[in-house]
Amino acid sequence: MSEIEFIRATLDELAVFVRQKYAMRESLSMSAKVDPNDLVTEVDLAVQERIQERIEKAFPRDAIVGEENGMTGFPEGEDTRAWVIDPIDGTQNFVRGLFPAYGISLAFAIGGLPVAGGVAVPGNGQLFHAEKGNGAFRNGERIRVSGVDQISHVRAEVDFAGMVDRVATLRAFGPFVEEVGQVRCHCAAVIGLCSIATGDMDAYVHVTLNPWDYAAGMIIVQEAGGMVTRLDGAAINLFDGGQGVLGSNGKIHNELSALALKGTY
Ligand code: IPD
Ligand code: CA
Ligand code: CA
Repeated sequence: MSEIEFIRATLDELAVFVRQKYAMRESLSMSAKVDPNDLVTEVDLAVQERIQERIEKAFPRDAIVGEENGMTGFPEGEDTRAWVIDPIDGTQNFVRGLFPAYGISLAFAIGGLPVAGGVAVPGNGQLFHAEKGNGAFRNGERIRVSGVDQISHVRAEVDFAGMVDRVATLRAFGPFVEEVGQVRCHCAAVIGLCSIATGDMDAYVHVTLNPWDYAAGMIIVQEAGGMVTRLDGAAINLFDGGQGVLGSNGKIHNELSALALKGTY
């Protein structure tokens, strides 16, 4: 089975599981991390464990990076094969029922560059996937970024993150918010990025994402014709320790980057 087939099969199966758990979300066990709003539920843990088990069987020599279970170390090496898991992105939306803005994210990277990725959105039965050079798809249908090429028409997500990063987000993206046409915040990086890939949104910014938040979304946006870089426009390696992320339809990426850099860091 190829990596992309593995991603699609795994996400298909886990989307069913997560949908069932969503229906009983009021009785799930959960705990908070450093930020009282940064939650981990039994579903986050179970989904990551199931994905890990499947990877260990199918690709036993590959590295695994995941948000939960202490799997947050970054592998090194130009040829290193690594899987990047966010079992539920948008956990707050999952827990309190902001339907359907949460997703399961699974990417495969070589040397820190995503080459295949998928995002399942269990709430509305959508499955996004992309493989380098082969385009991006939603439920098997090709998707493409929008043609919006004026800042005053751009619909952008400014992702406000958790409490720890809230003030940094305000300072960094004040000028950006003043200039773009429309501002949204789903607070689920996978939804923000996949929305660029479908053309529903045109840009996405975040001051501090971790690789598991955007690895799959990044290849999906790229294969839909868009761009995902650091805020200054620099190329991303998932494991380079950098954290700011700018995604866009690629039409005015430099202008968006310049706006993002006008803020205070
Ligand atoms: C969060 C989401 C959110 C972003 C946070 C992430 P989680 O992931 O991607 O959009 O603002 O920084 O931590 O915790 O729901 O997996
Ligand atoms: Ca996440
Ligand atoms: Ca998560």
